[in-house]
Amino acid sequence: MKNSSIFPAATVLIVVFLLIPEDLCEKIIGGNEVTPHSRPYMVLLKAESICAGALIAKDWVLTAAHCDLNQKSQIILGAHSISKNEPEKQIRVFKKEFPYPCYDRNTHEGDLKLLKLNKTATLNKNVAILQLPKVGSDVKPGTACRVAGWGQFNNNSPKSDILREVNVTIIDRKICNDQSHYNHNPVIGRNMICAGSLRGGKDSCHGDSGSPLICEGIFRGITAFGIPKRCGDPRGPGVYILLSKKHLSWIVKTMKQAV
Ligand SMILES: *[C@@H]1O[C@H](CO)[C@@H](O)[C@H](O)[C@H]1NC(C)=O
Ligand SMILES: *[C@@H]1O[C@H](CO)[C@@H](O)[C@H](O)[C@H]1NC(C)=O
Repeated sequence: MKNSSIFPAATVLIVVFLLIPEDLCEKIIGGNEVTPHSRPYMVLLKAESICAGALIAKDWVLTAAHCDLNQKSQIILGAHSISKNEPEKQIRVFKKEFPYPCYDRNTHEGDLKLLKLNKTATLNKNVAILQLPKVGSDVKPGTACRVAGWGQFNNNSPKSDILREVNVTIIDRKICNDQSHYNHNPVIGRNMICAGSLRGGKDSCHGDSGSPLICEGIFRGITAFGIPKRCGDPRGPGVYILLSKKHLSWIVKTMKQAV
């Protein structure tokens, strides 16, 4: 959820390009519809609001901790359209959810969560696993990444019924934390990463929360937050939870212990 507060009202006024959106979840700004089923690791989470996730094992989905789900929330693999009955869809619920133990709603630190599915996925060309990175390294500013989701495609639009994707670029933490960006409210620390475009207009937004950030083909982060109602605003690029060493080791350990 890109949700936090951020700029004092006075500084605000200008642009309303992109970033993230309203309540909890985020959406794709400045992107394009993907070829249906070409992102087979994408998981649609249908609760009161829409979120996304990544299938990381046959019975595990990685998403954002702020995506509130209940036992009836549908976890849909193989989706392109939210509303259509697609034969590629495999519908699950979670057997158990594992929010990152140190998740902090105020600072957004550790906004990640594992979902153990009630039934394993049937892997095929429409439903596939996204490999976790082997090493939890940082990603250099300027690296080209992409992020997909069913979130809004502009700040006033409804959510997208079909899956969209946008190319974003990693933005230096120093820039992301400076006075013309988040101004340390919240602090973008070593376990988070900013991505977007310095000119704005390319972003994740509400409804995209939990979606994987993929850089040079490697899964690097999870869509977390931006400035509420200002998806694509250059002052508030999208913020992603980095699959850092500490986050990766929690993921691996949790999956092992839960079996
Ligand atoms: C898992 O959940 C889905 C969706 O509710 C349901 O159709 C299916 O029967 C469940 N499978 C098992 C093994 O519980
Ligand atoms: C996104 O980036 C990829 C890889 O660099 C490129 O092939 C593609 O055309 C880009 N898409 C858009 C919409 O810019």
